[in-house]
Amino acid sequence: MSLVFSRPNTKAVHGKKDKRLMAEVNASPLKHFVTAKKKINGIFEQLGAYIKESASFLEDTYKNDELDPVTTEEHVQEVQGYLTKVSGIGEVLSRRHMKVVFFGRTSNGKSSVINAMLCDKVLPSGIGHTTNCFLRVEGTDGNEAFILTEGSEEKKSIKTVNQLAHALHQDEDLDAGSLVCVMWPKAKCALLRDDLVLVDSPGIDVTTELDSWIDKFCLDADVFVLVANSESTLMQTAALNWHLFKIVFHHVNERLSSPNIFILNNRWDASASEPEYMEEVRRQHMDRCTNFLVDELAVVDRNQASDRIFFVSAKEVLQARVQKAQGMPEAGGALAEGFQARLFEFQNFERRFEECISQSAVKTKFEQHTVRAKQISEALRHIMDSVHIAAQEQRVYCFETKEDRQDRLEFIDKQLDLLSMDCKTKIKKITEEVEKQVSNAMAEEIRKLHVLVDDFHVDFHPSSVVLKVYKNALHQHIEEGLGKNMSERCSTSITSALQATQTDMIDGLKPLLPSPLREQVDKLVPRQCFSLSYDLACDKLCSDFQEDISFHFSLGWTMLVNRFLGPKNTRRALMGNNDQVPRPMALTPVSTSMPPFPQSAMTQEELMVSMVTGLASLTSRTSMGVLVVGGVIWKAVGWRLIALSVGLYGLLYIYERLTWTTRAKERAFKRQFVEYASEKLQLIVSYTGSNCSHQVQQELAGVFAQLCQQVDVTRQNLEDEITDMNKKIELLDSLQSKAKLLRNKAGWLDSELNMFTQQYLHHSK
Ligand code: GTP
Ligand code: MG
Repeated sequence: MSLVFSRPNTKAVHGKKDKRLMAEVNASPLKHFVTAKKKINGIFEQLGAYIKESASFLEDTYKNDELDPVTTEEHVQEVQGYLTKVSGIGEVLSRRHMKVVFFGRTSNGKSSVINAMLCDKVLPSGIGHTTNCFLRVEGTDGNEAFILTEGSEEKKSIKTVNQLAHALHQDEDLDAGSLVCVMWPKAKCALLRDDLVLVDSPGIDVTTELDSWIDKFCLDADVFVLVANSESTLMQTAALNWHLFKIVFHHVNERLSSPNIFILNNRWDASASEPEYMEEVRRQHMDRCTNFLVDELAVVDRNQASDRIFFVSAKEVLQARVQKAQGMPEAGGALAEGFQARLFEFQNFERRFEECISQSAVKTKFEQHTVRAKQISEALRHIMDSVHIAAQEQRVYCFETKEDRQDRLEFIDKQLDLLSMDCKTKIKKITEEVEKQVSNAMAEEIRKLHVLVDDFHVDFHPSSVVLKVYKNALHQHIEEGLGKNMSERCSTSITSALQATQTDMIDGLKPLLPSPLREQVDKLVPRQCFSLSYDLACDKLCSDFQEDISFHFSLGWTMLVNRFLGPKNTRRALMGNNDQVPRPMALTPVSTSMPPFPQSAMTQEELMVSMVTGLASLTSRTSMGVLVVGGVIWKAVGWRLIALSVGLYGLLYIYERLTWTTRAKERAFKRQFVEYASEKLQLIVSYTGSNCSHQVQQELAGVFAQLCQQVDVTRQNLEDEITDMNKKIELLDSLQSKAKLLRNKAGWLDSELNMFTQQYLHHSK
C-alpha cells in the first residue's frame, strides 16, 4: 500500500475556476463541504427572495379585477406554501455540519485519535475507562473553550484538558448515555473551522445500551471510525473485539444505508518492538478488517477496502504535533522506529477521511433539499408559464378586439362621409322637385281662382261695414280653399317622396349601427307625420284690395276712355297724376325669395300717364270743333234722327242703371277681386315653392341629423372600447414581461441547482 497520498497533477492545464477549486481541495477536502454549503445556502436565499417576489406578484395579479383572471387562488396559495417551506429548509441547511463518530473498546485510543486530529490535547485520555459519556467536540467562534451538558444552558468554562476531565468526573448526573458538548475555539483548530463535529464515545465494552445510544447520537453521522487495538493479537481478545464491533455496526448498518466506516489499527508503534512479526501481524489485521467491511457489512468493495483500513499511532502523532506547535522538532523525543511511516499513514487516513466525509455529507445533507428546490423552481416556472400564457391569450384577444373596433370606426367614418354627400344630393334633388311641383300647382290654382271665388256664397251688401266682413270671410275662404287644393295636388306625392328618402337614409345608416340598435332605429328616429304648410296669408296679401262698385254707364265718358286706356290709367287720367302709386304690403317676414316690387315699371307708368294727360287735353281742345261739326250734322241729318239717337241713349242709360243691382255689384266685386288676388298671388308663387321645399329640407335634414347622432353614439362607444383595450394591453404587457422575467429567473435558479448537482453531488473522485 502506498503511504504517500496521491496529489492531482499540477502540470495539467486547468481552467481558472478549476485551479481555484483544486487549490481548495488541496488545502483541505473538507472545503468541498464548506463551499457546497455556502453555495446551496446562497441558492436557497435567492430562491426564497424569488418566491417572495413571485408570491406578491401573483397576489397582486390575482387581486387585479381590471383584467380577466390569469392566475388562480390555488397558485397563490401554493407559492405561499413554498415560501415557508424554503425558509425552513434554508434554516436547516445553514446549521448543517459533517459528523464523525469514533467507536472502539476502552483504552484503544479513541480520545487520543481525536486529539491527534485536532493537533491538541482537547479530550482527556488515559488508562482505564477515561471517557464516561458521549463527547461532542464542536467549534465555537469565541476564544474560550466551554462545555454544555444536556438539559442545561449553563456554559462551564474549561481552560485545560485536566479541568475538562475533572468537570466530567465531578458531574454525578452524567452516565454513559448522556451527551456533553465540548465547545472548542475554532481559532485554535482548522478542522473545527470547516464545520466538522467529532463525537467520542465511551468504550463499547462497558455497556449493553449501545443500540439506543446509536439511535440517539449517531444516525446523522456521515462517517464512523472504528478504533481497534493492533496490539491485541491474542485470539481471545481479538475475537471479543470483533464480536462487539459486529454488534455495533450491524445495528448501524441496519439503520443507515451503506455507512462510511474507517478502521484504525491504533498503537501500531508497539509493533516496532517486534519487527520480525510486523508484516505478518499487519496482514492478519488487514484480512480480518477487510472481511468485516466487505463480507460482513458489505459497505465497500474489496479493492477499496485498503483505503479504509490504516495502521497508526495516535499517541505519536499527537505528541509530534503538539511539539511542532510549540516550535520543537516533530520527530524529537523518544519515538519508536518507523515513526515517519506511521505519521504518513495517519495523514493519509486524515485525507481519505476528509474526502470521504465531505463527499458523503454533501450528498446526504444537500441532495434531498436540492431535489426539493428543483421541484419548487420547476413548479414556479410552470405557474409563471401559465400566467404568461393566460396573459398572452388575453392580450391577443384584446388586440383583436381593438383592431376590430378600429376597423369599424374607420368604416363608419368613411361610410358617413359618403352617406352625407349622398344625402345632401338627395335632399337637394327632392327640394328642387318640391319647389317645382308647388310652384306649378299654385300657378294652376291661380288660374282657377275664379271658380273658388264663385263658390263663395255670403250675403253681399255694398255698405262698407258689410263689405269688410264679406272680405274677411272671402280671404278665409280663399286661404282654406287654396290650401286644400294645393295639398290635394302635392301633399301625397311629396310625402311619399319624403318618406322614400327617409327610408333610403335609414337603410344607408343602419349598417353603421351595432346590431341590437338596428332593430330599434325606427323607434329611435321618430318619423312624425309630416304635412306641408303653404302659409298663403291671403288676408294680408289682399288687404289693400279696393273694390269699385259704383255705377258706370257703359257709354259714359269714363268708360269710353277706360275702354281705350284700361281701367288703371283711366283713373289716373281722370284724377290727375298726384295720386300715390299703391305699394304692396310686406307679406311675410321671409320675403327674400319674393321678386322685388317692379320699381322699374314706374318710369314706364309715368310715361303712360303723361301720354294720357296729353290725349285728354287734346280732346278738350277739340270739343269746340265737335260742336261746330254737330251743327253741320244737325243741318244735314235733321232733328228726328238726333232725337232718336238721344232717346236710344237715354233708354240704354236707364236700362243699365236699373240692372245695376246688388247681385251685379257682387259679380263686379268678385271679378275685381279675382283679378287683384291673381296678380298678388302670382307674386308669391316662387316664394311659396321655396317655402315648401325649405320645409321638406328641414324635415329631411332633421332626420339625417338624428341618425347621425345615433351613429355618433356608436362611434363614441367604439372609441371608449378602444381606449379600454389599449389600457388593458398595456397592463397585460407589463404583466407578461414580469411573468416572463420570473419564469426566466426560475429557469436560472434551476440551472444553478443543476450546476450545484453537477459540481457537488455527481462529483466523483
Ligand atoms: P476510554 O476513553 O477509556 O474508552 O479509552 P480511549 O479509547 O479513549 O483511550 P485513550 O485515548 O484514553 O487511551 C488510552 C491509553 O492508551 C492512554 O494512556 C494513551 O496514552 C494510550 N495510547 C493511545 N494511543 C496510543 C498509541 O498509539 N500507542 C501507545 N503506545 N499508546 C497509546
Ligand atoms: Mg476516551
